[in-house]
Amino acid sequence: MTDGTHAGRSIFLVGMMGSGKSTVGRRLAAALGREFVDADKALEARCGVAIATIFEVEGEEGFRHREACLIDELTGQPGLVMATGGGAVLREDNRAHLRERGFVVYLCATVQELWVRLRHDKVRPLLRTPDPRRRIAQLVEARDPLYRECAHLVVQTGRQPVDRVVDVIVAGLPAGVGRAGAAPSPDAQSRHIAPGTSPDDGRGRTPTL
Ligand code: S3P
Repeated sequence: MTDGTHAGRSIFLVGMMGSGKSTVGRRLAAALGREFVDADKALEARCGVAIATIFEVEGEEGFRHREACLIDELTGQPGLVMATGGGAVLREDNRAHLRERGFVVYLCATVQELWVRLRHDKVRPLLRTPDPRRRIAQLVEARDPLYRECAHLVVQTGRQPVDRVVDVIVAGLPAGVGRAGAAPSPDAQSRHIAPGTSPDDGRGRTPTL
């Protein structure tokens, strides 16, 4: 748990399922000495069942309600790195809580990249359709503007090494976010960081997302 040393503005990762939010989030938290929370895992722990079961029993609406309650609660905590579920940005209140209470990073990937990562997925309820690739494309089209609306920083994940994505995020953090003791910047600007801007581009030090 946080001990207050690194308490400060939390960092929230948003983006499609398969964009690497949990993997990057865990690594980013370790790099910054912060606590990592995976919102989906926290919800499963709290409910005692898998996300898929919540969908089965209560439908997507029931899941979204539970998800919104949890996001409201977790965005009220300082000093976290939190990976959100891919649909967290669907609700306006969630988007407002994320953007106003923390520094939001959108992990952006193409439909093809997401499909490569998700094609064998058996867990995610929204992909249980006859044409999951088409579903991914529809979700990206609908959600990309919402992720961008919410984000202070947009980072292409693509096929980049996890550590490189983390480096790009750390380089894009405003003063005070991620570094203990510095004052938080209230006016972080939305920025787009294109791949290939990091000095260690292409070395492949870690597995790609
Ligand atoms: C969802 C994404 C999932 C999970 C749920 C719904 C979505 O989270 O919250 O299955 O609507 O895209 P991940 O993005 O962590 O897979």
